[in-house]
Amino acid sequence: MRAVGSSHPRADAWSKVTGAARYPGDIDLPDQLWMKILFAGRPHARIRALDTTAAAAAPGVVAVLTARDVPHNAYGLIIADQPVLCGPLDDVNTQAGSDIVRFVGDQVAVVVAETAAQAAAALPLIKIDYEDLPLVTDPLQAMRPDSPNVHPERPGNVVHSYRIRRGDVEAALAAAAVVIEQTYTTHAQEHAYLQPEAGVATVDESGLVTVVVAGQWVHEDRKEIAHALGLPVEQVRVIYPAIGGAFGGREDMSVQIVLALAAWRLHQRGIQRPVKIVWSREESIIGHHKRHPMVIKARWGASRDGRLLAASVDLTSDCGAYTYTSTKVLGNVTLMCLGPYDIPNVAVDARTVYTNNVPSGAFRGFGGPQGHFAAEMQMNYLAEALGLDPVEFRARNVLHEGSTLATRSRVPAGCTAPEVLARCATEAGWVRMASGWQPGPVSPQATAPADRFQTALDAAADDGNRRRGIGLALSYKNVGFSLGFVDECFATVELHGQTGVERVVVYHAGADVGQGAHQLMRQVAAEVIGVPLERVELIASDTAQTDNSGSTSASRMSFMAGNAIIAAARQALALWQAEEDRPVIVRQRYVPRPTTAYDKETGASDPNITYGYCAQAAAVEVDMETGHIAVRRLVSVNDVGKAINPQQVAGQIEGAVAQAQGWTLLEEFKQKDGQVLTSRLSTYLIPTIADVADVVEPVILEIPDPQGPLGARGMAEMPFIPTAPAIVAAVHAATGVWINDLPLTPERVWRALRRVEPHA
Ligand code: MOS
Repeated sequence: MRAVGSSHPRADAWSKVTGAARYPGDIDLPDQLWMKILFAGRPHARIRALDTTAAAAAPGVVAVLTARDVPHNAYGLIIADQPVLCGPLDDVNTQAGSDIVRFVGDQVAVVVAETAAQAAAALPLIKIDYEDLPLVTDPLQAMRPDSPNVHPERPGNVVHSYRIRRGDVEAALAAAAVVIEQTYTTHAQEHAYLQPEAGVATVDESGLVTVVVAGQWVHEDRKEIAHALGLPVEQVRVIYPAIGGAFGGREDMSVQIVLALAAWRLHQRGIQRPVKIVWSREESIIGHHKRHPMVIKARWGASRDGRLLAASVDLTSDCGAYTYTSTKVLGNVTLMCLGPYDIPNVAVDARTVYTNNVPSGAFRGFGGPQGHFAAEMQMNYLAEALGLDPVEFRARNVLHEGSTLATRSRVPAGCTAPEVLARCATEAGWVRMASGWQPGPVSPQATAPADRFQTALDAAADDGNRRRGIGLALSYKNVGFSLGFVDECFATVELHGQTGVERVVVYHAGADVGQGAHQLMRQVAAEVIGVPLERVELIASDTAQTDNSGSTSASRMSFMAGNAIIAAARQALALWQAEEDRPVIVRQRYVPRPTTAYDKETGASDPNITYGYCAQAAAVEVDMETGHIAVRRLVSVNDVGKAINPQQVAGQIEGAVAQAQGWTLLEEFKQKDGQVLTSRLSTYLIPTIADVADVVEPVILEIPDPQGPLGARGMAEMPFIPTAPAIVAAVHAATGVWINDLPLTPERVWRALRRVEPHA
C-alpha cells in the first residue's frame, strides 16, 4: 500500500474499539485528590460576599479555592473578559468585573477533597451572598440603549462588528427583476462529544505544573494557564491523551486553568498530590460554549436571465456572556453569508452581541452553517421566483477560478465550486442540457447512481400521507486562520539508521481530536521519506516535546501539519543523502501565505488562505400528519484536493452529516431567562442510527489545491455546511412549504404545513 492515498487502519483503532484507549477521565494517578467546581447557577448577579469556612471543614476536604487564589483572574482566547473564578472584590481579588457572574456556568469556587463525593458534598456548604442583576438574553434587545450591560465597559453589548461594501446595492436592487427579502434564524447547538471535560494536574519538585487534558491546541492551553497563574510558560506543561471529540467545543478553557490552579496552590502549601476532575454530562452541557444562534436578514436581487445583482445582509449573532471565539466566527460568517457566489454589489452588516446566555463559540463550520443557510435559502427563493432550476441558477452564479470575492480580492487559485456543484447535481439525478441543468428522467431500471438517488424515494413507503422531495445546496469554507492572523506550524523529523532509514520519528504538537490527524501525519512522513508506515513513530501533543502547531480547528491541521512535515522530511532526506551524521534531525516552521484583515469601512481584504468546497443533495420524506422528516439518502460531494487516507475522509463526511442532520432536524439547545432547559442528553436529543440518513454517499473529488500538502485541502468542517439548506430545499420540494427557521422539528414542520403560528 502506498503511504498516502491508502486507507491504512489508524494506529489507535484497536485501542478505541476495545476500550483500552485512555481519555483524560480514565487516567488515575497514585494518591490523587478530586476536584469539583461550584457553578454560579444564576445568569447575572454580583457576588457581595463568599464564605468557605464550613466547606473547608467538611469531611475529606483538602482545599477550597476562590477568586482570592487566582493570581491573574481574567482569561479568554481572544479577549480576557472572563474571570477564572468569580468572587467578591477585596484587597486580594482586585480584578475589575470579576465580582459579577454573567451566565449560569460561571465558576465561583473549587473544592479539592479525598474523594469526588466528598468534594461534591462540600459544594453546597459554600455560602454566597448574591445580588441579582437585570438580565438580557435576546441579542436584538441587548443592543437597545435601555438594555442592561453584560460587561459595563461595553455599553450596548456589541462586542464586535464587521461590514462589507462593494458596488451600489440599492441601485442594483432597484434594477433587479426579482428581489427576495427574508429573515432566517438559527439556534444553539451542543457539541455532545463522547468524553466530557476531564483532566488531571500535577506539580513536580521543580515546580513544573503538568496538566493532562483534552483540548485543541496544547500551546494555547499552556499560555492561558500560565497567564492566569502568573507563571512563565516554561513552568507549565500540557499533554493531550486520547481526546474523545472536540468539534470546536474544546477551543476555549473549561477545566484547564482551575486544575492547574488547584495543583499549584496545594504544592505551595506543601501538598504534593495530583488533582483530578471529570465533569458530568450536565456540567459539560452547562459549562462549555455552544454554536452561535443567529438572526440573518437578507435582501437579494437577480436579473431576469438569472444573474445575481446584489446582496444586502444584516446579521446578528448571540455571543453569550463572554467573547470566546465570537469575533472570529463573526469574521467568517460576514463572508460566508453570501455563499460561494459571484455578487457584484454587496452590503453586509454583521455584529456579535453579549447576552447572559451560555457563551457561543467555535463549532464545526465556524459561522459557515449559519451563513450558508441564509445564502442558500436566498438562492432557492430567487430560483423559484425566476422560474429557474435551482442547480441552473447556482451554476450561472457560482464562484470560479479567477472570480472576485465581495472583499474585492480574487478567490485563491484552485476554486472548484463549479466542479463540485456539477458532480453533486449529476449524482442526484440532474442532467445538463443545452438549455441548462434540469432534473433528469428516472429510468425504471434504476442502475445509474442518479437513478438510485431518485428511486430511494420511490422505494420508500407511500401511504398517501408522505411526500417526497430532493434538495441540493452548495458551500465553501476557509482552510486555516483568517483575516490577517499570522499562522505557523512546526514539525520536527528525525531519521535513524546507518545506510538506510530504519526508523523515523516525527514530533508534532497537533491535536488528534478523533479525526485521525496523527495517522495523517505519519502517512505524509512515510510517503516523503519513502519508508513503510510502520517505521514512522509520532510523538505528539506535548508542549515539553513539540513546538507550536496552532490549533486543530479551521479545517487547518491536515493542511498546516502536512506542509510542515513535508518540508521537514524533504530537508531531512536531503541531509541524510549529503552527510554522514546520524541521526538526522530537522525542525521546520511552515508559514502559509499571508491574509489581510477587513478594511473597516468596505471589508476589502484577502480574507483566507484557501477554501474547500462541498455540495450535498438530500432525498427526504415528510410525514404530512406528524411533520416528521426522514432523510432517505444524502450524497455529499467534497473536493478534498488529495485524500491522504480515503477512509478517514469518508468518516469525516459521515460524521459531519450526522451532526448536521442533528442540528437541522432535532437538536435544540434551549435556554429561558438564562437557565439551561436542556442540560441532559435525555432533553437535548442528538441523532441515533435511527435518525440519520438511511444512506450517506460520500463522493470524494481530488482536484489539487496548489498550496496544499500533496494537493490536500482541509475538509473536516465542509460537509456540515450544506446539509441544512439541502434538507430544507428537499422539504420544500416535497411539500411546497419553505421554512426559514431551524431546527425543523416535527412541531415546526407540522405548524408550517398548516400555517399555524406557535404559542407565544
Ligand atoms: Mo473549529 S469550529 O474551527 O474548532
